[in-house]
Amino acid sequence: MSDQLTDQVLSCVDLYKSFAEGDLQVDVLRGVNLQVTRGESIAIMGTSGSGKSTLLHLLAGLDLPNKGETTIVGKKTSTLTDAERGKLRNESLGFIYQFHHLLPEFTALENVAMPLLISDNCDANEAAMSAREILEKVGLGERLEHKPGELSGGERQRAAIARALVTRPECILADEPTGNLDEKTADQVFNLMLELKQDVGTSLIMVTHNLSLAEKMDKTYQLHDGLLEAH
Ligand SMILES: Nc1ncnc2c1ncn2[C@@H]1O[C@H](COP(=O)(O)OP(=O)(O)OP(=O)(O)O)[C@@H](O)[C@H]1O
Ligand SMILES: [Mg+2]
Repeated sequence: MSDQLTDQVLSCVDLYKSFAEGDLQVDVLRGVNLQVTRGESIAIMGTSGSGKSTLLHLLAGLDLPNKGETTIVGKKTSTLTDAERGKLRNESLGFIYQFHHLLPEFTALENVAMPLLISDNCDANEAAMSAREILEKVGLGERLEHKPGELSGGERQRAAIARALVTRPECILADEPTGNLDEKTADQVFNLMLELKQDVGTSLIMVTHNLSLAEKMDKTYQLHDGLLEAH
């Protein structure tokens, strides 16, 4: 395999996605192309409803396109079973949902340890230690035993960020990860992501409305009329 291919962490080619609502068809993505290489950071901006979350879900293999192809660490997503896609996502990606998606019946510590426990790569003690460490780094060291319903919106968002970072993934996909955070806390968690980029070459794809954060990324794209335009 050439260096260029092995260096590619995520890609999509000619990606189309439509949603049908009754008689109405919404064509959200209309031929999106994107390549993300190891250690690269990308901001995706665009108006509400332009399809940013849709694109992120497709790139992570959480949803499938109507047309086009996505690859995750060089593997064509469409050729994988649901279970294989889930495993690859768990091993290689950290996904921060726009609305946190923490499991309500588990504590912050358990939620963050979960990706490590699922991966079979570490035992329960190691998973809990890593989860505690990253929760402390996002400022939740005093909230380990709180369930999502007992956390503030920003605390939930930080727990979701911790869960995505705990596996030190090859790529983080973050959907407005700092939307609920004050400027100082937003900077802190953003710097944690940059640390991973420095330490282990993690790539970062971040949807954001925050221009000053976007400017800190290697590239910025605008999603407009179903197409991704360099900004
Ligand atoms: N599961 C779905 N079923 C039907 N329509 C959907 C679905 N998911 C998204 N859409 C539609 O696709 C369009 C893009 O939605 P998406 O959530 O990707 O936008 P977004 O750019 O992330 O917006 P925001 O900035 O508000 O989060 C919207 O018009 C939305 O109504
Ligand atoms: Mg969105």
